Amino acid sequence: MSSGESGRTESASKTFYASSDDTKICVVMVGLPARGKSLIAGKALRYLAWVGISARIFNVGTYRRKLSPHPLANFFDPHNPEGEKMRWAAAEAAVSDMLKWFKESNGVVGIFDATNSTKQRRAWIHKTCTEAGIETLFVESSCDDEEIIMHNILEVKTTSPDYKGQDPEVAAQDFRNRIRNYEKVYETIDDDEKSYTYVKLINVGSTVIINQIKDYLSSRLVYYIQNLHIKPRSIWLSRHGESEFNLTGKIGGDSDISTRGEAYARALPGLLKQSGVPPGAKLTIWTSTLKRTIQTARHLAAETGYDKLEWKALDELDSGVCDGLTYEEIAEKYPEDFAARDEDKYNYRYRGGESYRDVVIRLEPIIMELERSDNIIIVTHQAVLRCIYSYFHNMSQEQSPWMEVPLHTLIKLTPRAYGTEEQRFKANIPAVSTWRGKGSSAKHQDPVDGTQPNH
Ligand code: ATP
Ligand code: F6P
Repeated sequence: MSSGESGRTESASKTFYASSDDTKICVVMVGLPARGKSLIAGKALRYLAWVGISARIFNVGTYRRKLSPHPLANFFDPHNPEGEKMRWAAAEAAVSDMLKWFKESNGVVGIFDATNSTKQRRAWIHKTCTEAGIETLFVESSCDDEEIIMHNILEVKTTSPDYKGQDPEVAAQDFRNRIRNYEKVYETIDDDEKSYTYVKLINVGSTVIINQIKDYLSSRLVYYIQNLHIKPRSIWLSRHGESEFNLTGKIGGDSDISTRGEAYARALPGLLKQSGVPPGAKLTIWTSTLKRTIQTARHLAAETGYDKLEWKALDELDSGVCDGLTYEEIAEKYPEDFAARDEDKYNYRYRGGESYRDVVIRLEPIIMELERSDNIIIVTHQAVLRCIYSYFHNMSQEQSPWMEVPLHTLIKLTPRAYGTEEQRFKANIPAVSTWRGKGSSAKHQDPVDGTQPNH
């Protein structure tokens, strides 16, 4: 899988993209209010954090709120000099903090989240960034679908701190008036700006225009952003049914599922149904190429007729020379490695195998494909599932490798405007625990009290 034979912790500074490349990018959001700019910015931030890139959002609304916490629509009228002054001041303060962050915190991607709706404003940002050695990537979201805009206003704008304590209907009307004020001066990105790097998303990505992408990081970001959609859907995650290796406490391998694992495989179609599949929805089943996930998804595929796809990228973390050993045997044979892994589990790479960081990198195409897709059920392995889960829940690199993901449990994730909703469905079929606490080499440790029950 990976080139590493080191059996040691990798440098954390080696990120997803070439470590020698010192590209810094300012992603400049563009668009009228309620066009999903903050949502796109938030998702891009989560993606970047997941692949290990230092990124931060600078939201001008937050700065403006310090100057004017509850403004009415009239504040945003371009002919209101007082409002104009404060809005420029907020934008300048955000840009100044962003430049400071790039310099002092070694930031890689700063996301400048505002409407940036005039050519004048964009020219200013472009010039300021260029002078500071920072590339710009403009991301415009335009949408003229009244139904989507109204839905957006009701979903997120009436609960904005701008309207705290106000009647939602009054807030919605005021927000529509705010949009009208922006429309008076709004200029879409056009040929006058063709020297800029930009992506234009029209009506939630139904048309995408891409211009002048110059580097690898921008191209990955653009590919990610263009695949985002807002159709309601869920993603189901499950580990394979208990395997023969799980029973003996061995890691890795390509063993069959146990009798109890087979019972879980048979129960999976019912469990999925119980979790609430929207009527008429067509799911796709993704498994790894290893027997235990394919066997677990077998009945599900047969009973539902859902399409099935095997991904090599979903195979379990490669434990290299430790493949087929128990944690106790690893601690005996490779004590230094065992301790090094506990010290920094995310970055530790097994001799001849992988680290969690390596797994995240090979899962990147899976995340891209997941963002493009509708309903998907993924049957995979403990470490891989932790990595996918950490993307959806924005979990830190310190936490995710230690997360408990019990066998015989279906996790349903439903992306919402901000954040991911989660439900868990436990099959009533016992299985061993494969969780291991820091410092322990115990087999089948209980994640709640750390004991080792008899099986
Ligand atoms: P503002 O300028 O007031 O900050 P905004 O453009 O940042 O507004 P968001 O707060 O991100 O708007 O709006 C979130 C809503 O936009 C959600 O309901 C989400 O479903 C929807 N949305 C997400 N992507 C898009 C898109 N490409 N086009 C239109 N709406 C979208
Ligand atoms: O024990 C089951 C298993 O999927 C192994 O094959 C794999 O090496 C391990 O879990 C990953 O978990 P951890 O990173 O906690 O050792």
